[in-house]
Amino acid sequence: MTIPVIIDCDPGIDDVMALTLAFAHPELDIKLITTEPGNQTQEKTIHNALTFTSYMKKNIEIARGLDKPFFRKLEIADKVHGENGLGNVEFPEPTIQVSNRPAIEAMKETLLSSDEQIILIATGPLTNVGALLLAHPEVKSKIKYISYMGGAAVGGNMSPTAEFNVYVDPHAADIVFRSGIPIVMSGLDVTHKAYVTIEEINEMEAIGSDFASKVSQMLRFYIHSAKQTAFHAPNFENQIHLHDLCAVSYVLTPELFEGDNCHVAVELEGKYTAGTTIVDYAQQTGLPHNVKVLHTINREKFVEQFFHAVKQMSAD
Ligand code: RIB
Ligand code: CA
Repeated sequence: MTIPVIIDCDPGIDDVMALTLAFAHPELDIKLITTEPGNQTQEKTIHNALTFTSYMKKNIEIARGLDKPFFRKLEIADKVHGENGLGNVEFPEPTIQVSNRPAIEAMKETLLSSDEQIILIATGPLTNVGALLLAHPEVKSKIKYISYMGGAAVGGNMSPTAEFNVYVDPHAADIVFRSGIPIVMSGLDVTHKAYVTIEEINEMEAIGSDFASKVSQMLRFYIHSAKQTAFHAPNFENQIHLHDLCAVSYVLTPELFEGDNCHVAVELEGKYTAGTTIVDYAQQTGLPHNVKVLHTINREKFVEQFFHAVKQMSAD
């Protein structure tokens, strides 16, 4: 039984780790990949998606999304993901062309033409998804749920309370969180527990393939760069969180995770809190549950799953 998905991302080191897991599992029927700015500009994220998907020898439609957030000035994470967005690790030039359909059009047509509901996996700012829902609300019934890496119940990595993906485009996130579509949120509460250690990275490199070498180079870059910013979880030393991988892993193996259903709202304009996800764990607002907020992960099995995906994609 295959699971139809659309992946919306901003590659990005952990975005390509998420794509690796998705590509390694044929039970995921990837209908479309769309990109937006976030870790890098749209120019670079679309190029990275084309490059990585070509390198992985996958023939999947890749459509270019919007170039900037709804209202805010684009802030990118080049200090964390590097000048090229992939830890400055070089890949061969892409062999696949960008789709002639813009992302919003491609998402709409893919969803409306599907005879079954599709899971939307989102691992970057929600600019494309927010715009899709504003322009084509009729697609809502075709989205089974959104597996989203973003937000946090506690803490933040772009401000004391805001996580990067929501911080970059809180207005788009607000549209998505208020859409009525079920959301499973892999926020920092769970992604800070979803880490790999330098020893595990060394084991991955020992697989010996060109891909395993590229993965370990990107992850070492990520460990180093994240330490220079607040992107790193507090008191992290030689570990790095694979945030976006959670959004794919949940779709494949939800049993690795635990979470709670609650109401989540997005703060839009706070002087210190814009981009914060307000997670009402204690049901104080009395507002309806719209999100399953993940907070626990079986890290060992998660890393094992990723290791096998790297091995699998090294063999292909
Ligand atoms: O806060 C982590 C998120 O920001 C991840 O999606 C990472 O790729 C960056 O986009
Ligand atoms: Ca991302």
